[in-house]
This record gives sequence, C-alpha cells and structure tokens, in this order.
Amino acid sequence: MTKKVGILTGGGDCPGLNAVIRGAVFRGLLNYDFEFVGLKYGWKGLLEKDVFPLGIEDVRDILAEGGTMLRTSRTNPRKVEGGLENAYKKYKELKLDGIIVIGGEDTIGAAYDIWKFNNNFKMVGVPKTIDNDLWGTDITFGFDTAINRAMESIDNLHTTARSHNRVMVVELMGRHAGWITLEAGLAGNADIVLLPEEPFDIEEDLCEPLKKLKESGREYAIVAVSEGAKLKVDEDKDGSLILQEADRDEFGHVRLGGIGKALSDEIENRVDWESRHVVLGHLQRGGSPSAFDRFLSTRYGVAAADAIAQDKSGVMIALKGNEVKPVKMTDDIKKIRKVPEDYIEMTRLFTANPKSKK
Ligand code: F6P
Repeated sequence: MTKKVGILTGGGDCPGLNAVIRGAVFRGLLNYDFEFVGLKYGWKGLLEKDVFPLGIEDVRDILAEGGTMLRTSRTNPRKVEGGLENAYKKYKELKLDGIIVIGGEDTIGAAYDIWKFNNNFKMVGVPKTIDNDLWGTDITFGFDTAINRAMESIDNLHTTARSHNRVMVVELMGRHAGWITLEAGLAGNADIVLLPEEPFDIEEDLCEPLKKLKESGREYAIVAVSEGAKLKVDEDKDGSLILQEADRDEFGHVRLGGIGKALSDEIENRVDWESRHVVLGHLQRGGSPSAFDRFLSTRYGVAAADAIAQDKSGVMIALKGNEVKPVKMTDDIKKIRKVPEDYIEMTRLFTANPKSKK
C-alpha cells in the first residue's frame, strides 16, 4: 500500500544527513511505492506545514554533499504550550502516514514525545550527531567524518608546533561527551586529552604534566580539549570554564567555546612554554561525509524506509555491532552516552596524564 512519508532534519547539521535522505527516498520510492515530502527547517517545517515533494532526481546526487538539503533549525515543539498536540494536528493535516525524523537526542526526543502523546503519529528516528553521544546506537553518523577532520588538523599542528617549540591547544566539539576529543586526540597522538567526563585541575592535570614533558626534553606538545571539558570543583558548583553565550537555545543548551584560549593563556603563564590555540569549531561539522559515513547513513536511510513500510513506530534505527536495525525507544533517548571509563583509562597509556606512567 502506498504511503505518504515526511522527512525532517533537526538540530545541528552533520555530514551524512543528505545520504540518509537519499537512502530513504531510494528505498521508499523504488521498493515500496511511497510518496515523500521534505519538511523544511526541522520541526518548523511540520508546525508551519512548509513541505515540498521529494523524488529520485532531487536526491540522486546529494550523497557526497555535507549539510542538509532540507535545512535545519532548533525549533522545539515541546517548548510551546500545546506543541505536541499541534504537531500531531499538522501531521494529520498534511495527510502523512509516517515521518522519518533525523536528529540528535533533542529532535528524536521530541518525536518520541509526540508519539507518546498520540500513537497514531508514526515516527522512525535516525541518530545523527558528530558528538556520537546518542543513547541506543553504537555509532551516530557524522562522527567518523568529524574525527577524521579533527585528526588531520591535529596531525598538521604537530609540524607547526615542532618547528616553533610550542604547545598547541586544540579545542574540539563535544558538549557533554568527549568522543571526538578522545578518538581524534588518540588518533592524532595528542600529549594531553581533556574530556567533559573527567573534570580536570589546571595545575595537576595540565601544567604539571607539561612541565615534566618539557624537562624530559620534549620540544613541543599537543593538548586536545573538548569544548565542554570542566574544571574539578566542589560537587555543588559548575566547573564549566567558558561559555561563549549564556543564552540557551530552545532545547536549553548554552553555546560553549573559549576553553582552548583560556588553557593556552594558563600554559604560557604557568609553564613558561610558548603556546597557541586553535578552535576547530564548525569545520568538524561542515563538508563532505567520509566513505564510512556515506555508507552508514545510506544503511540508516534504507532501514528507516523499511521500518515505515513495516508499520513500525516509536523506534530509532541503530547500529548494533555490525547490524543496522530498529530499536524500541524509551525515555532513555534523552540520556547522553558518555565515554566509558575503560576508554579513558586506555587514553592514559598514551598521554602525559598524571595518572599515566608515561
Ligand atoms: O551537537 C553537535 C554540536 O556540534 C556540538 O558539538 C556543539 O556544541 C554544538 O552542536 C554547536 O551548535 P551550534 O551549531 O548551534 O553552534
């Protein structure tokens, strides 16, 4: 039976969004005879019924394109009075039989809440974020591209740092979880890796280890720090070092940024080592997806169309081991998947962390 299916992308963009859209549209049109509409600017597109038809020719060549052809926003239907009811009403008015919601914990979390509000809202989530911190899946698409881009940048920092006998501090994305910093930092052979999961002390965990490195004859050093890394403080205090903007978006997030510069200044003051900082920022998010992300996103898109065809709802497509499959959503979708302790422990082997023996 033919179905009218909407697709939206919400939250921060991420390499691979277009590949998911393409995967779903190819599968849905060629194998199930679906009709697709794209909803523009995330949830805004549903609430304002801003939609356009999506055919094979619209998506054929978007596989390698970064960003999202549907555009995105951080509009949150949960934020407004009657938002869930209104979202469901617009879904019915658009005569949709299902909706593929591509996003992180906020966007998919909103879809889950609308579905809980009314089970006739047929939704399938697809897990997106370069931060890789989404519950329920082993890997989110976009992460692989981000860590490869970050690793290449760290590789480049080695040669310039070595030439000048400097410390280079590189600030990486990762609001609540340090996956990018951990994996790109390790792959890029950083000397110090600072993650949101493990609050740090500027003297003990940064300056002392750098002094020791310098005394041991090391001529330069690389520090990789997550934008969301926190200082060790008393439990009742917030150790966030720098907020670029304290205003929160509709999902309650502040804008982070600035920790790289703050640490670089501290290093110059306390370690007597020339230091520079780099903020990789949105360079990690923009541009063409890696081969891994193109393939994973395509699998996610195809599996999302399959799930709609099988009348599944309240599910998210997940990578479990090597299998891509729908998993039933629960309130856990709102949880952040943090870097586990054994990964952090392994990082200590290769860095100048005071707990390591290097
Ligand atoms: O959630 C992905 C992410 O890239 C975070 O790593 C970062 O903190 C945030 O989005 C930045 O958001 P914006 O693009 O709104 O500045």
